[in-house]
Amino acid sequence: DRLPALLRLMPKAELHIHIEGSLEPELIFALARRNGVALPYASVDALRSAYAFTNLQSFLDIYYAGASVLLTEQDFYDMARAYLLKAAQDNVIHTELFFDPQTHTARGVPMETVINGLHRACVDAQAEMGVSASLILCFLRHLSEEDAFETLEQALPFQDKFIGIGLDSGEVGNPPEKFARVFARCRELGFHLVAHAGEEGPPAYVWTALDVLKVERIDHGVQSSRDALLMQRLAQDRIALTVCPLSNLKLCVFPDLASHNLRQLLDAGLAATVNSDDPAYFGGYMNENFTQTFAAGPFNAEHAYRLARNSFEASFIDEAAKARHI
Ligand code: ADE
Ligand code: ZN
Repeated sequence: DRLPALLRLMPKAELHIHIEGSLEPELIFALARRNGVALPYASVDALRSAYAFTNLQSFLDIYYAGASVLLTEQDFYDMARAYLLKAAQDNVIHTELFFDPQTHTARGVPMETVINGLHRACVDAQAEMGVSASLILCFLRHLSEEDAFETLEQALPFQDKFIGIGLDSGEVGNPPEKFARVFARCRELGFHLVAHAGEEGPPAYVWTALDVLKVERIDHGVQSSRDALLMQRLAQDRIALTVCPLSNLKLCVFPDLASHNLRQLLDAGLAATVNSDDPAYFGGYMNENFTQTFAAGPFNAEHAYRLARNSFEASFIDEAAKARHI
C-alpha cells in the first residue's frame, strides 16, 4: 500500500494551526524553568495525562494554562521554530499560523514581543527550511468586541508582519456577528479574513461568518453538513473548510475517525482541507492527520491529491505561486 507514503511525501499547505497549540509538554516545562513560572503539574507525564478532553472548553482551559509560560520574544521564536521544523518534516511547504495575542497581552506581555518573535521564526523558516509561513491574528470570541478593537489597535504598528484576522476560542454562545464591526474594520484595512465556525456551533454560525463577517475561509465548518442549503453555498462559492480530523476526534465532535464527515464534504464538492489545529494536544501534526484519516475511511490517491490541491488553492499565497502549486 503506497498511499501512506504518498500522504507523507506530497507537498501540502497547512491553513489551520494555532501556534500556541504546538507547544509540546517538554517545551512548556523547559520554558517554565527558564522563566521561573510555576506549573500546577509535577512532570511532563502528569501534564500529558491531563490531556483527556470531553469538548472544546475542556481543552481551552488547559491550552490557555500552557501558554502562560511564554514571556519573552525568544520564547515565541522557539515555539514557532519547533512547529516549523515539524512542518518541514511533513512536507508542508506553506503554512498560515494563527496566534492569540490576547492570551499574552492580558498577562502583561507586550504585543511587539509576541509578533516579533513569531515573525522572526517565519522569516528564518523560509531561509533555512524553504517553508513559507505567514501569521493570522485571532480575536478570542469569549471576550468582548471592544477588547478585540483594542487588540487591533495594539497590533496595527506591526501590520506588515501578519496577513489576516481570525476568530477562535469558545464558539457556542459567541456567534460571529458579535464581531461584525471589528471585522468590517479589518476588511477596510485589507486583511484576509477567516473565522472558526461550525466546530461545535450550529450551521447558523457558518452563515453569519460568511454573510456578516465576510470571511474567505471557514475554520472547521464540519457542522455544515446538517444544512443542505449551506452545503450548496459553500460548494458554489468554493469557500474552503479547514478541517482538523484529530482535533474533532479528541474534542469528541465525532466519536471516531470512521464516522468523520470529511469524505462527505469532499463528495459534495466542497473545498475541504486537512489540518492539525493544536498538534501538541491532539496527538499529531499534518502527516499524522492525513495517515490516520485515510486509514479509517474510504479514501484513495485521488482524494489525497485533491486535499493537497485544495490546501494551496485556499491559501493566501500570491496567485503566481498558487498557479505553480495547483
Ligand atoms: N483555539 C485553539 N484551538 C481551537 C479550536 N479548535 N477551536 C476554537 N478555538 C481554538
Ligand atoms: Zn482551531
